[in-house]
Amino acid sequence: MVPGEPQRAGVSERPDPEPAVGELLVEGLLVGVCGTDHEVAHGGHGALPPGASDMVAFHESLGRVLTAPAGSGFAAGDLVAGVVRRPDPVPCGPCAAGEWDYCRNGRYTERGIKRLDGYGAQRWTVPAGFAVRVDPGLGDLGVLTEPASVVAKAWEQVDRISSRSVSRGHVTLVTGAGPIGLLAALLSVQRGLTTHVLDRATSGPKPDLVRSLGATYHSALPDDLEPDVVIEATGAAQLVFDVLGRTGPNAVTVLTGLSGSRRTVTLAAGSINDELVLDNDVVVGSVNANLRHYRAAADALAAADPAWLGGLLTRRVPLASWTDALSRADGDVKVIVDLRE
Ligand code: BGC
Repeated sequence: MVPGEPQRAGVSERPDPEPAVGELLVEGLLVGVCGTDHEVAHGGHGALPPGASDMVAFHESLGRVLTAPAGSGFAAGDLVAGVVRRPDPVPCGPCAAGEWDYCRNGRYTERGIKRLDGYGAQRWTVPAGFAVRVDPGLGDLGVLTEPASVVAKAWEQVDRISSRSVSRGHVTLVTGAGPIGLLAALLSVQRGLTTHVLDRATSGPKPDLVRSLGATYHSALPDDLEPDVVIEATGAAQLVFDVLGRTGPNAVTVLTGLSGSRRTVTLAAGSINDELVLDNDVVVGSVNANLRHYRAAADALAAADPAWLGGLLTRRVPLASWTDALSRADGDVKVIVDLRE
């Protein structure tokens, strides 16, 4: 992959990587494709590794350990997912404390996105401290670990903010029924909350995936819904602000989707300000995840219905034709690339 040059995406041979001290050698099994990968390919988000003319694509991984250093806590045969972000080299305070997702100086790197090769290879290496064990019972479903980690961080923010008062409501609205939205709905249901999901799709797998989770599906924003928690996973600028005006008292809204900085909408700014102040509302952005969130994600996936998780994996593309995964198709939820084929 070359950021911003989709015509240069393809398959190429590279020498097998040699694990450095403290690293695992991993057989790449699957990678997941997300909006960020489309942004890297088409929009030029991200950056090549220093001095490189291309980059191994993808940041959502599943692999099987081939070799592990003694004392690393991993053994050959373990299923693992690799962590996306690496701390900045300074490091800033959060990066030094293992919270690279809260990096203060922006000099972090990200596998398959920013200045580091990704996980879209049949062999990859990873420092043991940046690998997360996946429940062996999950099998291929473990490829959902990274998107679930992003969602686990969003929910951690909800939980922490909600602990500010006894007023914690029980109604969640998730906007967007892509992988992030559906996994956010899963974690909402796992918390015992009444869960609503809004997406513009009226056909395809999304409505049934929401209903089989025990949540309610909407293809338009209902007038009478006053959510206590919103997990926003569309980045659709108008919808983001429409939703802010509809939340219940003391609501927490977590924004996880990007809009593109050129998107403009007309806002009733004064009334949104008044609503936020008079309702003690909190709006918080959330990106990336640290080890704590990956572990919470692994637990949430292990506790989920495997048949339901399997319904999220709607299209599997073989490695040889992986660039097909960069075209969107009707009914796609999570597209995965099979590195074994
Ligand atoms: C990834 C994050 C990453 C972000 C920005 C997302 O798709 O899940 O790990 O920080 O893109 O590059």
